[in-house]
Amino acid sequence: MIKAAVIGCGYWGPNIVRVLYEDSKWDLKYCCDLDAQKLDRIATLHSGIAITRDSDKIFTDPEIQAVFIVTPLNSHYPLARQSILAKKPTFIEKPFVSKVAEAEELIQLAHQNNVPLMVGHIFEYSPAVIKIKELLDKQELGTIHYISATRVNLGIHRKDESVIWDLASHDFGTIFYWLGEEPISVQAVGKGSVIKDTPDIAFITFRFPSDILVNIQVSWLAPSKLRNTVIVGSQKMVIYDDTDPSQKIKIFDKGISAMEHTTFGEFQLSYRTGDIIVPILSNIEPLRVEINHFYECVKKNEQPKTNGKVGLRVIKYLELAERSLQNNGEVIAVNH
Ligand SMILES: NC(=O)c1ccc[n+]([C@@H]2O[C@H](COP(=O)([O-])OP(=O)(O)OC[C@H]3O[C@@H](n4cnc5c(N)ncnc54)[C@H](O)[C@@H]3O)[C@@H](O)[C@H]2O)c1
Repeated sequence: MIKAAVIGCGYWGPNIVRVLYEDSKWDLKYCCDLDAQKLDRIATLHSGIAITRDSDKIFTDPEIQAVFIVTPLNSHYPLARQSILAKKPTFIEKPFVSKVAEAEELIQLAHQNNVPLMVGHIFEYSPAVIKIKELLDKQELGTIHYISATRVNLGIHRKDESVIWDLASHDFGTIFYWLGEEPISVQAVGKGSVIKDTPDIAFITFRFPSDILVNIQVSWLAPSKLRNTVIVGSQKMVIYDDTDPSQKIKIFDKGISAMEHTTFGEFQLSYRTGDIIVPILSNIEPLRVEINHFYECVKKNEQPKTNGKVGLRVIKYLELAERSLQNNGEVIAVNH
C-alpha cells in the first residue's frame, strides 16, 4: 500500500479522495484543506482519514509516499515545490501551474530530487480519447483537415483564472496528445461577460505544421453542457461527445473529393456516404485509470505519461492564448 495525502477538498478533491479510499492499493492518511467545513464533509463520508488545515504536516511526515494537489491554480506552484523538495511523488491537478517559468523550475526540481511528477490531464486516460489517438496514428481518417472542439456549460466562474485556463487546458492537452505536434500560430478572442476582467467565453484557433486547423470554443456561459469535438479527415470524420454515456465516438465514413473536370477546367465534387461505426469502449472511469497510472509510477519511481513536460507544453500555449486574447486577437506566431 502507498500512503497518500490529498491537499484541496473543494469540488474536485473529493473525487480523488473517493477513488483512493475505495482502492486497497492506497492508504489515504491525510486530507488537507484551509476550509474546516470541507474537511468535516470528508470526515463524515470517509472514516479513518486524518484531517488537517496545515499542509506542512504532510510534507514533514516521513510516512507519506505520495501527495495529490487539488487546490486552485494559484497555489499549485508553492505547494508542488514544497512537496517535491520534501521528496514526495507529486500529482498536481491541471492546469499544471500559472507560468512557464514555474513549470520549468518544478520539472528541474523533480529531476534533481528523483521524484515522479504527474499533471492531472485526465483525458489522456479516457478510453474514448485513447481510441481516437489510435485512429489518428493508424491514419484511418486520412489527412486531417481540421478539428473543432466545444466545451461549454453554465459553469463556476473561477476568481483567479480565465475560462481559457480552466476549460481549454483540457482541449489543449488532448489535441497536442492526439496530433503529437505543437501549433505554429495561436489566436484567441474572448470577453468577460459577467465579470469584466475575467474572460468567461473564448474562441481559440491554432494552426499546426501539418496544415491542420483547430478551433476551440470554451465558455462558462451556455444553457447546457456540451463536450463535443469534430475531427474531419480526407477519408473519415469523427464526432466525439464526452457527455454521451454509450456512444462517445461515432466514426462517419463520409467525405468529399474534388476531381478536375477535363472540358472546362472546372472542378467536380464527388460526395461519399458510407457506414457510421460506434466503437465499443471500456466503461472504466478515467480518474481511476489516471490514479492507477500514478500508483505504478510511484511504485517504480518513474516519470508518468502526463509528466511535467506534458504539463509545460499546455501552459506555454495557455500563456500565448491569454496574451492573444488580451491583445484583441493578435495572431501569435510560434517559432520551434
Ligand atoms: N480533472 C478534472 O476534470 C478537474 C475538474 C475540476 C477541477 N479540476 C482542477 O482541480 C483543482 C481544484 O479545483 P476545484 O474545482 O476543486 O476548486 P475548489 O475551489 O472547489 O476547491 C479547492 C479547495 O482547495 C482549498 N485550498 C486552497 N488553497 C489551499 C491550500 N494552500 N492548502 C489547502 N487547501 C487549499 C480550498 O479551500 C478549496 O476547498 C483545479 O486545479 C482545477 O482546475 C480538475
